[in-house]
Amino acid sequence: MRARCGRGASTSRCSTRKTPGASRCGPSAERTEFPMSDLIEATIVATARPCPDVAQIDLLPHGEGIVFEPGGHIDVHLPLEGGVQVRSYSHVAIGPDRSLRIAVKLLPDSRGGSRAMGRLRPGDRIRISAARNDFPLSFAAPRHAFLAGGIGITPILAQARALKAAGRGFTLHYCVRDRASGPWIAEMEAEFGASFTLHDDSAQGLLDARAFVAALDPETELYMCGPYPMMAAVKSAWAAAGRAPARLRYESFANSGASESVPFSVRVVETGAEVTVRRDQSLLDALLMAGQPVMYDCRRGECGLCKVEIEEIDGDIDHRDVFLGDQGRKGALCACVSRLRGGTAQIRIDSISHGPSV
Ligand code: FES
Repeated sequence: MRARCGRGASTSRCSTRKTPGASRCGPSAERTEFPMSDLIEATIVATARPCPDVAQIDLLPHGEGIVFEPGGHIDVHLPLEGGVQVRSYSHVAIGPDRSLRIAVKLLPDSRGGSRAMGRLRPGDRIRISAARNDFPLSFAAPRHAFLAGGIGITPILAQARALKAAGRGFTLHYCVRDRASGPWIAEMEAEFGASFTLHDDSAQGLLDARAFVAALDPETELYMCGPYPMMAAVKSAWAAAGRAPARLRYESFANSGASESVPFSVRVVETGAEVTVRRDQSLLDALLMAGQPVMYDCRRGECGLCKVEIEEIDGDIDHRDVFLGDQGRKGALCACVSRLRGGTAQIRIDSISHGPSV
């Protein structure tokens, strides 16, 4: 069995997070991506709150440490309800003691990961994967621009610092709900000076994606990470402006929906199972916990492996993936990130209806 590797909108280049080995198929939420012997033990050495709803965590990997690359990430293996689950976090920085800084958005409708991460304190131990980088920074681009929204600043900040250290110019545009809701704003203003622009939604309204793209030099390579609506608007503006798809690089993250998460329910046509999805739980996790054999890989809305087909629906869908195009979204959703805005649906699970990809 092999995982299908998904791409975002056809006009854009999407960083996909591939995992070694096979894709995963439930019911096996407790399965991990790596053999346990490949995991690295790490000790939390410091924690901080750079803004009220972001936890900054410095962790020191035991042994040889971690290879730090701007845009890279580690997977943290967390013991949560239903078994060990994996969450990916971008590196923000590496300290002189080789400790790695990550940051976690503390979500009220957390699937459990952010709550567990927010409780970590110095001295606690966690298990992490080796570092991987599916959002690499190209130094070959003639010009660089960065666009981040909310917690999407984490990989972008590391990339901007790498360019600055290399003596290269760039612009960094950071969109926040309001000034109090973004981490490290004063630090970035001091560090990047005129290269840094803060976009405060509460004062300026949402980013005008077309104007933003139009203002970029035609040779610019844009790196972005943020909530789904912001990235969708910029991808659409990028395509409408006729810019080269390869010059738009982006990374998505889960929980980047347009609406607040609420509970909903589904009925699986093939098995007859009725599954209720809590507000702090993904449809994928609810299906796995109910013993439904749904396949998955990235858990970030990028690979499309967890796609389920919608046969009937009483409610709307909050699509949060970057895999399905507009056409695909009419009758399907990616169960790892997308959800109903309440109500109920009858779904078909791709891997039951069509069998796993081989
Ligand atoms: S597991 Fe990859 S899109 Fe859901």
